Amino acid sequence: MSQYKNVCEQLKSQPKTWLVTGVAGFIGSNLLETLLKLDQKVVGLDNFATGHQYNLDEVQSLVSAEQWMNFRFIEGDIRKFEDCQNACAGVDYVLHQAALGSVPRSIADPITTNETNISGFLNMLTAARDADVSSFTYAASSSTYGDHPALPKVEENIGKPLSPYAVTKYVNELYADVFAKTYGFKAIGLRYFNVFGQRQDPNGAYAAVIPKWTAAMIAGDDVFINGDGETSRDFCFIDNTVQANILAATASDEAKNQVYNVAVGDRTTLNDLFNAIKTALNENGVTYTKEPAYRDFRAGDVRHSQASIEKIKKMLGYAPQFRIDDGIGIAMSWYVKSLA
Ligand SMILES: NC(=O)c1ccc[n+]([C@@H]2O[C@H](COP(=O)([O-])OP(=O)(O)OC[C@H]3O[C@@H](n4cnc5c(N)ncnc54)[C@H](O)[C@@H]3O)[C@@H](O)[C@H]2O)c1
Repeated sequence: MSQYKNVCEQLKSQPKTWLVTGVAGFIGSNLLETLLKLDQKVVGLDNFATGHQYNLDEVQSLVSAEQWMNFRFIEGDIRKFEDCQNACAGVDYVLHQAALGSVPRSIADPITTNETNISGFLNMLTAARDADVSSFTYAASSSTYGDHPALPKVEENIGKPLSPYAVTKYVNELYADVFAKTYGFKAIGLRYFNVFGQRQDPNGAYAAVIPKWTAAMIAGDDVFINGDGETSRDFCFIDNTVQANILAATASDEAKNQVYNVAVGDRTTLNDLFNAIKTALNENGVTYTKEPAYRDFRAGDVRHSQASIEKIKKMLGYAPQFRIDDGIGIAMSWYVKSLA
């Protein structure tokens, strides 16, 4: 039996209490769905900065009434220490996802990104330490590799950050490490590499590439590619990311106080991604006939990104179950139902 299956069985027989911050967002709402389906108790914290009530409503529609009763939502802000304290009370495992994502957003407004992603993070760390939680798993980012040219990305070799967002995610790692050294706190950082899937927001100026292009194709609008389309990423389907969080939270102490890449270990160019989305939409009854429109490269973007996932496989027993085409198929069927 895989490590993940094993952990899920154990959790089902001995349910725990989890705090998911950013629970109304993309990754948070998917964590919520899986945890409730495993009959866990979940506290959720969100201020709806970029998350939505309709994500929570969708999760409610996908779980039983009994499972939904195991969820307690707190509308609150990680920039307020008191909200973090309330949310952490009585919690076994924290999955800290709340942050302001997006490189361009951080370039446009570094101050708000800093307040949320650094001060908010420190509030959460401190409140979780005071509440004596068993573990604190947080969303780190592949942006921490910055200008380091090596591929694939190995955890210990990082470069200089290329955006305010990347600075904030690196500072999270530094704080978590200092909390381990000074308070014996048990944190794990998960460096996500371009997560995608159901409930990732297609709207707004800072939408991620897959939902943005998908919405444009469904609407018959132009799809813009920044640069020549040969920029590449290690796109990771949401279910792999959920698996990594559950394995990290429940890991043995030797596997804690570490950062891990969360990805698949593949590299897909934007040109190939365009074709994969177009094909999957076509299979779901949406025909898109336009060619992509190329424009300038975007400031702060890393040119190539691909993870080594050796460390997380070895230390946490992570085994990604979805490669990009599997995930794109599932995601496109969801977007067509939601948007078309
Ligand atoms: N999606 C990716 O590809 C990716 C890649 C690397 C890292 N991450 C990180 O993963 C985490 C989740 O990202 P996501 O893609 O689900 O984004 P998202 O925007 O869908 O979710 C973030 C959630 O945090 C909430 N939030 C923001 N500020 C808050 C505050 N001050 N107080 C309380 N809640 C607040 C938002 O309302 C939202 O629901 C973030 O930390 C992000 O930086 C995501």
